[in-house]
Amino acid sequence: MASVQEKLITKITEDKAAAPTNKITIVGVGQVGMACAVSILSKELADGLALVDILEDKLKGEMMDLQHGSVFLKTPTIIADKDYSVTANSRIVIVTGGVRQQEGESRLNLVQRNVNVFKFIIPQVVKYSPNCIIIVVSNPVDILTYVTWKLSGLPQNRIIGSGTNLDSARFRYLISERLGIHPSSCHGYVLGEHGDSSVAVWSGVNVAGVSLQSLNPEMGSDQDSENWKQVHKEVVDSAYEVIKLKGYTNWAIGFSVADLAESIVKNLSRVHPVSTMVKGMYGIENEVFLSLPCVLNSQGLVSVINQKLKDDEVAQLQKSAETLWNIQKDLKDL
Ligand SMILES: NC(=O)c1ccc[n+]([C@@H]2O[C@H](COP(=O)([O-])OP(=O)(O)OC[C@H]3O[C@@H](n4cnc5c(N)ncnc54)[C@H](O)[C@@H]3O)[C@@H](O)[C@H]2O)c1
Repeated sequence: MASVQEKLITKITEDKAAAPTNKITIVGVGQVGMACAVSILSKELADGLALVDILEDKLKGEMMDLQHGSVFLKTPTIIADKDYSVTANSRIVIVTGGVRQQEGESRLNLVQRNVNVFKFIIPQVVKYSPNCIIIVVSNPVDILTYVTWKLSGLPQNRIIGSGTNLDSARFRYLISERLGIHPSSCHGYVLGEHGDSSVAVWSGVNVAGVSLQSLNPEMGSDQDSENWKQVHKEVVDSAYEVIKLKGYTNWAIGFSVADLAESIVKNLSRVHPVSTMVKGMYGIENEVFLSLPCVLNSQGLVSVINQKLKDDEVAQLQKSAETLWNIQKDLKDL
């Protein structure tokens, strides 16, 4: 007897659905990975979403929960498995997996433990998606982006660290709060290392092309009576504060990673502050990854915008580079 499906549907052609062309994989379904997933789904960037983690129950639960929202989404396949074959032919792979710092553990030790995690993740990613663009989010993001570049063997344009994309978004939000103007109209960059030694480029902060430093030449310095420097301090402190309040940060990093993915998927050639290999730029001599304003399109990270930085800003970037290199040079088995 004919099935309901056979009775319902008259086939005109054999319906072999084409393979996804904008498949996005997220490795690590923790707080950050799932915030990235939800942002990407709600922006309708992917025609296939794959999730990978080592925690099988959590992975299956997250997959099912997202699948149950399919009626509200425009991403026809949402799949998950701890086996990386599920990630095959991804256009973009976002890496959020990793271990957290344990009490009393040194940063270097954490880095080495995450290197060992990445030594498992990255070869699998490349095996199944040799043409993908990898966005690294796990911390310490600049070092792990370097590690990914080394382990993957992929060209520099296909390795992107989320870097100071989030720091810059926080910076623009905090400036917007002071000015009463939407953050998208408050332009400014935080560059360098994601985190404590990040560099606020006060010389470039502007609204509608009006340099704020031209209105207040002391902006960003200790002599500034308006204490704009506090804005950058709040940027640096904000992750610690959110983590103290809710245990982790996830929504803003999720939105910001989806924004990077959008520039790639839609070939937008937009400029984002993200982590790339900066050897040879601003007098940096070692192979370190730091954030500079970069152009992202369908080929990945295609160029770097050469900002005219002040001498003290260049010195700060060089200091970040030195700090990172001192950790990187001792990493084993890359
Ligand atoms: N770059 C940024 O701006 C930024 C912002 C926020 C958080 N982060 C970083 O993102 C990372 C994730 O944070 P979180 O809050 O989601 O952590 P989390 O602990 O909630 O999630 C991490 C996930 O990684 C998984 N995992 C561990 N080893 C794995 C492996 N070998 N393969 C696949 N998955 C593995 C874990 O099972 C877990 O589900 C952290 O390193 C965090 O510091 C970066």
